[in-house]
Amino acid sequence: MSTRIARISLTALALASIASLGHAQAQPKLKVGFMLPYSGTYTALGVAIENGFKLHVEEKGGKLGGREIEYIKVDDESDPAKATDNVNKLIKRDNVDVIIGTVHSGVAMAMAKAAKESGTVLIVPNAGADAVTGPMCAQNIFRSSFSNWQPAYAMGEVAAKEGKKTAMTITWKYAAGDESVNGFKEGFEKGGGKVTKQLTVPFPNVEFQALLTEIAAAKPDAVYSFYAGGGAVKFVKDYAAAGLNKTIPLYGPGFLTDGTLDAQGDSAQGMLTTLHYADGLNTPRDNAFRTAYAKAFKLQPDVYAVQGYDAAQMLAIGLTATKGDIGKKAEFAAAIEKAKIDSPRGTFSVGKSHNPVQDVYLRKVDGKENKVVGVAVKGLADPARGCRM
Ligand code: BEZ
Repeated sequence: MSTRIARISLTALALASIASLGHAQAQPKLKVGFMLPYSGTYTALGVAIENGFKLHVEEKGGKLGGREIEYIKVDDESDPAKATDNVNKLIKRDNVDVIIGTVHSGVAMAMAKAAKESGTVLIVPNAGADAVTGPMCAQNIFRSSFSNWQPAYAMGEVAAKEGKKTAMTITWKYAAGDESVNGFKEGFEKGGGKVTKQLTVPFPNVEFQALLTEIAAAKPDAVYSFYAGGGAVKFVKDYAAAGLNKTIPLYGPGFLTDGTLDAQGDSAQGMLTTLHYADGLNTPRDNAFRTAYAKAFKLQPDVYAVQGYDAAQMLAIGLTATKGDIGKKAEFAAAIEKAKIDSPRGTFSVGKSHNPVQDVYLRKVDGKENKVVGVAVKGLADPARGCRM
């Protein structure tokens, strides 16, 4: 090769690498599809999740793994019947890179099926459906929240330790309610208690009067209940209006009183709940998060905001490891699996099933706060029954 030809080849090589550098800098925006409830009883939960997610992205200068973000939103209405069509709008019509959703367990199960079939990355920022990180678990499916079993099992243990011998349960009839009651029953009966009757109303019905009359007549030692959002506000108020809060303690996972205390007022005072977040943690990490959230949204954060924030943190961890290439599924998953996620709730990890292994706090309602009383169960991992990866 003559010197001149060698020089030309070197120049061509240099130009090619400059071009490829330019190409790396100009990665297209990462399409993030929010599939959340923006109407109905869970609206406030969906909004808090979106707020929390966006707060973390803003803290990262608007980019994750070097990529700017484009948001696309679908209102899932917490309606499982519309879930497959809705998730396919994001996967097939909008071609999103990652889906963040949702709140309702029944909707989340349809989303997990579609994500598994298409390979699209899904991060669940609330819905606790045990199956999502159980039999449906997959390399591309992650959860930043909890399984329905986790806070419920912890409350069962607490109720037994409080010396309660009998409990009735009352909830919406769908996966989250059923699984929450099962978790409570497991913890409570292991501790020597007995669940004597399981009452339900269809989701999102809030006509509780006949069932409250049945509870008053049966006089169990305690009542365990799963409701959230608008339904939780109505149930806790109805329970107090019937005078039951004076005689039969009402327990539940923290969704019963999280983000709802302004509306519940006096009716929730003194209630004990279990959850992976609480007011008054008073750690530098949580204080900084709360200050930033309040400044950005003129609202106090709740557990849903934390879960949205942590969904963005998990996405950031995966994208940083893959230099923004979400198609590198194995590397993306491995980075999240070995991460210690620096959450406002306290550090957690997700392990192989991709569900948080986390402390579950015991909280007591005091004024407008779910004040932390202590840790009910430390480092609680969902059993991930049926997860094979
Ligand atoms: C659920 O459907 O899994 C759920 C909804 C609201 C709060 C907690 C769980």
